[in-house]
Amino acid sequence: TLVYVPRDSAARSVGADEVAARLQQAADQGEFDLHVVRNGSRGMLWLEPLVEVVTEQGRIGYGPVTADDVPGLLAAGMLDGADHPLRLGLIDRLPWLARQNRVTFARVGVIDPLSPQDYLAHGGLRGLRSALAREPADVVAEVTDSGLRGRGGAGFPAGIKWKTVLDCQGAGAETKFVCCNADEGDSGTFADRMVMEGDPFLLIEGMAIAAHAVGAGEGYVYIRSEYPDAIATMRAAIGIAREQGWLGRKILGSSLDFDLHVRVGAGAYICGEETSMLESLEGKRGMVRAKPPIPAIEGLFGKPTVVNNVLTLTTVPVVLADGAKAYQDLGVGRSRGTQVFQLGGNIKRGGIVETAFGITLRELIEDYGGGSLSGRPIRAVQVGGPLGAYLPEAQFDLPMDYEAFAEAGAMLGHGGVVVFDDSVDMAAQARFAMEFCAEESCGKCTPCRVGSVRGVEVIDKIVAGTHRDENLALLEDLCDLMTDGSLCAMGGLTPMPVRSALAHFPDDFLGGRRLLE
Ligand code: NAI
Ligand code: SF4
Repeated sequence: TLVYVPRDSAARSVGADEVAARLQQAADQGEFDLHVVRNGSRGMLWLEPLVEVVTEQGRIGYGPVTADDVPGLLAAGMLDGADHPLRLGLIDRLPWLARQNRVTFARVGVIDPLSPQDYLAHGGLRGLRSALAREPADVVAEVTDSGLRGRGGAGFPAGIKWKTVLDCQGAGAETKFVCCNADEGDSGTFADRMVMEGDPFLLIEGMAIAAHAVGAGEGYVYIRSEYPDAIATMRAAIGIAREQGWLGRKILGSSLDFDLHVRVGAGAYICGEETSMLESLEGKRGMVRAKPPIPAIEGLFGKPTVVNNVLTLTTVPVVLADGAKAYQDLGVGRSRGTQVFQLGGNIKRGGIVETAFGITLRELIEDYGGGSLSGRPIRAVQVGGPLGAYLPEAQFDLPMDYEAFAEAGAMLGHGGVVVFDDSVDMAAQARFAMEFCAEESCGKCTPCRVGSVRGVEVIDKIVAGTHRDENLALLEDLCDLMTDGSLCAMGGLTPMPVRSALAHFPDDFLGGRRLLE
């Protein structure tokens, strides 16, 4: 009997390795006929470690399982899918999963991430084969037609970015690069990590398609050092892909030569900003470059470079395999396809919800999330990472759509959704935004480097009641200056959480921590 136990680091952090070891022990002792497979996580993080048993009816889940539960589960007949208090039923039928539209995450949690056979058996390489059979310009057009926008946060159309790189011709443009930004630094986000750990060949396939589309010969995956499992999995997958002929010379018998390397960051949030990442890849300190020139024209080592987020590149194979139309049919307005939302913070059921754009924030946090973990009312939700706005209850019915969020003074960003209950002190959260910026600023421009430090001081004065009105006006002024005058999104977006906290939770700035009734 095949038994799946995730190797995803979220599952490992709550004991998946111990569970797998206990199952293996039972197999080694010949007591039970089972074979342990380490898969990615299904993204139902409150159920981890989630053990799945392959039965005639399908995969039956048990969770959350501890190592000490294993003997009892085996004795109760888990291998036949028998009843047990931890039995969850057929995994595919669990409403939390069944209601999702898993496009990018279709294979995550289903397959053994490092098995090329599994990858192929579940539709792997269909996108790359389809791309290699077409001219680069056709591949770019397909990506443009799909409406796929950059999933790193800015939402720039992926196809247009690729076209810029493809169109760079002539002297100096003989060498081009594809760089994957896997420096997932936003608090409350983990989708890049989970797809790299759960389906690494998908990222390799997406990057190979990008290479064919723009004429690149080499690529880099820039992964944050905080992701040791993702780094190890990507490195192993690249090695296997080379052996399989999915990387290297004449990929899949075509004329495409493309190889890939992993580079590890050193813990700076700003290295997730694309030009800073390029500096870091070049072996320099991660400082932001002025744009223009954009990386699509002068990127890594001054060469035309595609820089895309993990989720963008892992969606490309699906677009090429199933066609632009199928992807474009999902979503609302100019937000086409699906977004991989990451539910975290004070929430009962946290994890990955991949669904078409247009779902409301309330559906995400209430229907999927099940409300707050503490059981207290949800007071604020921060969407889009530490630079995103805090939304109050009155805005929970906003559809998840880039434009609708922008209109509401918020942003979707990389899809992180962090929930706070009514014990949150929003003045402290606003202060944290400035503090975070002061800590992570690359220091290149004054509005960010100095403004963030002054921001902390001004918020402290407001909360202390010192010349409150003057300091509130000063904070507004500072926010304007940082928004308009910063060189990159770090300083430019820090005012967003501050302003939203001021606008929606003004009472919290009236002095000290809000007293809970
Ligand atoms: P941006 O709007 O300056 O650029 C978006 C992308 O489009 C860039 O790759 C840029 O080079 C490219 N681009 C712009 N014009 C182009 C053209 N004509 N042709 C080809 N490419 C073109 O935004 P930026 O500064 O890259 O990203 C800001 C976003 O990053 C924020 O909105 C935030 O959501 C997100 N973010 C994400 C984090 C994460 O961990 N994923 C962390 C922090 C911020
Ligand atoms: Fe550096 Fe901040 Fe200026 Fe960005 S806004 S370039 S992080 S100092």
